[in-house]
Amino acid sequence: MFRLLRTNAFRLAALYMALFAVSVLTVLVFIYFSTANFVERQAEETIGAEITGLQEQYRAHGLLGLIAAVNSRTATERNEPTLYLLTDPRLHRIAGNLAAWPQTAAIKPGWVEFSVSLVRRGQPVTYDALASVFILNGDYRLLVGRDLRDAAVFRRRVAQTLFWAALLTLALGLVGGLFMTRNVLRRVEAVNRTSASIIQGDFAERVPVTGSGDEFDQLASNLNAMLDQIERLMAGMRQVTDNIAHDLRTPLSRLRARLEVTLLERPDANRYAEALAETIAEADHLLGTFNALLSIAEAEAGARRDHMATVDLDEIARSVVDLYEPVAEERGLKLALDTTSPALVRGDRHLLSQAIANLLDNALKYTPEGEVHLVLRRSNGGHIELEIADTGPGVPAAHREHVFDRFFRLENSRSTPGNGLGLSLVRAVVKLHGGEIRLEDNSPGLKAVMILPAAPERAVVSINRSAA
Ligand SMILES: Nc1ncnc2c1ncn2[C@@H]1O[C@H](COP(=O)(O)OP(=O)(O)OP(=O)(O)O)[C@@H](O)[C@H]1O
Ligand SMILES: [Mg+2]
Repeated sequence: MFRLLRTNAFRLAALYMALFAVSVLTVLVFIYFSTANFVERQAEETIGAEITGLQEQYRAHGLLGLIAAVNSRTATERNEPTLYLLTDPRLHRIAGNLAAWPQTAAIKPGWVEFSVSLVRRGQPVTYDALASVFILNGDYRLLVGRDLRDAAVFRRRVAQTLFWAALLTLALGLVGGLFMTRNVLRRVEAVNRTSASIIQGDFAERVPVTGSGDEFDQLASNLNAMLDQIERLMAGMRQVTDNIAHDLRTPLSRLRARLEVTLLERPDANRYAEALAETIAEADHLLGTFNALLSIAEAEAGARRDHMATVDLDEIARSVVDLYEPVAEERGLKLALDTTSPALVRGDRHLLSQAIANLLDNALKYTPEGEVHLVLRRSNGGHIELEIADTGPGVPAAHREHVFDRFFRLENSRSTPGNGLGLSLVRAVVKLHGGEIRLEDNSPGLKAVMILPAAPERAVVSINRSAA
């Protein structure tokens, strides 16, 4: 209960409750004042009408006419709660249904309230009355009044009704407020409980979704989606670190075994030199792997985003092809280049040339004979397409996704040197540039298609100017 009082939700509910109570009470007070006097006002109106009638009689027929009129009214309206009294200057009754001038009623002209004691049907009764007093010519006085018992009863009843209405409204408000607070708290608590168990290590836990589709449900499903995403990323990360640990262990064990064997052979100076050279080569290979891994991680994290500039892919492709020309020649492969200039993209020159080099390296490495064809073209959708096709064994469709994973190599490529990291870097670089990479069948061979968004035209102009 104390905890409930301390919560924000409860404070908010209490604040609304207070506002609600104040407005309900204001409305009820207004209703009371506009209805409670209803009967009194009606009495005043009746008295006013009576007086107008009597005044006409007095004006037309004088005092005698007035006496006759009062007498006729008291005779026929015996049971009516209208009170009449006409007195002479010494307050002696001349006509009317009141025996004497009431003690408490002032003798000034105007409205008076007083209490009346009467004997009606043999019963003495006392009640409050409202009357209007007139002083006529010759100091005669006329009092016309009305019984106010109904007014008092009505006022009391209105007050009672309003009191109960107020009490009921406040009670309902209080119960409703508590109920709402409890409801809100329960759902916040569910989120808290889930986070607590996740902190304690239970990553499978999720925030319950009620299915109502309200804000809490939206919050819950967003939180759950976030947790799913985090879990996926963590699983991916774990997979990568496992792979790295596993794939680096093999070359390290090999290196260690080689050194051990060399040592057991009781080697001469030449053998030592040879073993050291082999060790350095192996270490270089390991360093290469580390560098490749670091480049991939860097590209994936977008760490080099501020190296982005508008670059010409045609120029980059040409320099990579120049670099690989001797390799193609050595392997007896034809290397052809079809480009379009300029092919401007917004990107990181170093990473892009690394990616193209990796694709070209694969094409040359896995193609025993034939040709490697590099085509660069502008597609009409505002993209630059770079295609590298070879006439080698290709990659079976089932593996075209896997070859992008770190350290993945096809069975029949194991005899060729490599780490299985080249395509991982290509994909990371392409993603970083907002593009995509596809592997297609070149029948025979593999066709790798890299699609990058072309740089906007305005950038082209400014680059050309600054270059000039
Ligand atoms: N042009 C290609 N033709 C046939 N198979 C290919 C081709 N390109 C890639 N592959 C297959 O995909 C695998 C992954 O390629 P990736 O470039 O990632 O690694 P790698 O070439 O083996 O090693 P690294 O590029 O790290 O030196 C290769 O081992 C090979 O089996
Ligand atoms: Mg490769």
